[in-house]
Amino acid sequence: MLTLSNVTKKFGELVAVNNLSFTVEDGQIFGIAGPNGAGKSTVYNLITGFYPYEGKITFDGRDISGLPPHRISQLGIARTFQVPHTFPSLSVAENVAVGNRFGDPGRYDPDYVREVISFVGLDAQLGHPTAQLNLLGKKKLMIAAALATRPRLLMLDEPMAGSNATEIRQLMDLIVAINRDRGITIIIIEHFMRVLTELTEKLLIIETGTEIAFGDPEVVTSDPRVCEIYLGEQSAESN
Ligand SMILES: Nc1ncnc2c1ncn2[C@@H]1O[C@H](COP(=O)(O)OP(=O)(O)OP(=O)(O)O)[C@@H](O)[C@H]1O
Ligand SMILES: [Mg+2]
Repeated sequence: MLTLSNVTKKFGELVAVNNLSFTVEDGQIFGIAGPNGAGKSTVYNLITGFYPYEGKITFDGRDISGLPPHRISQLGIARTFQVPHTFPSLSVAENVAVGNRFGDPGRYDPDYVREVISFVGLDAQLGHPTAQLNLLGKKKLMIAAALATRPRLLMLDEPMAGSNATEIRQLMDLIVAINRDRGITIIIIEHFMRVLTELTEKLLIIETGTEIAFGDPEVVTSDPRVCEIYLGEQSAESN
């Protein structure tokens, strides 16, 4: 469904994404992990057309390299952000309506907007300004706004960050429902290995923009190089 071929992104001297290639199959939940600054969010910014890059990205066999973000959205790719991005003065319903108009201009559908709001569990907050939502509410809203664009591929950037165990469970159930019940292919960037091993079919580990390991999550997470990166990161965080 989505293929990156030899994709490289440099910010001046810094090589944020280094000759990266991978393929996400239709229907999959595909995981991406790696230490802070590895280039994970940059990969999303390249796929969604935020920056120019070297290499090629295809979606359903079509070259999408160089297309602007709104065209890529209209082709069926949606994403959420690591730090919730919403329009704070707009209501929940208005935020999701913006997503619906962005992804599918000319086919604004208020019933569909309500349906995705209900699907993520924000019915009770429909008319509330989004500034009143807590972190979990804002995350659900971002997912609803992304779903409102009618994507076939949804890319989530660290959806579990800052969540407690109950919220993580809720978000995991929501992600599985998006994939199984709505038939949407998912890429998830996540630090919690437990989440990745439970949810994903394939897992890609990157460090300084380069692939370190790829494959079945159980195999990848027991790879000595991957363990080394994560142990190094944990000891750095505890210092
Ligand atoms: N617009 C930009 N201009 C310059 N450098 C950038 C830009 N965006 C990202 N970078 C740099 O590229 C590298 C990769 O950043 P990126 O945000 O993709 O990492 P990440 O893997 O998502 O990290 P984290 O886990 O902290 O979210 C970092 O060194 C970052 O500082
Ligand atoms: Mg990031």
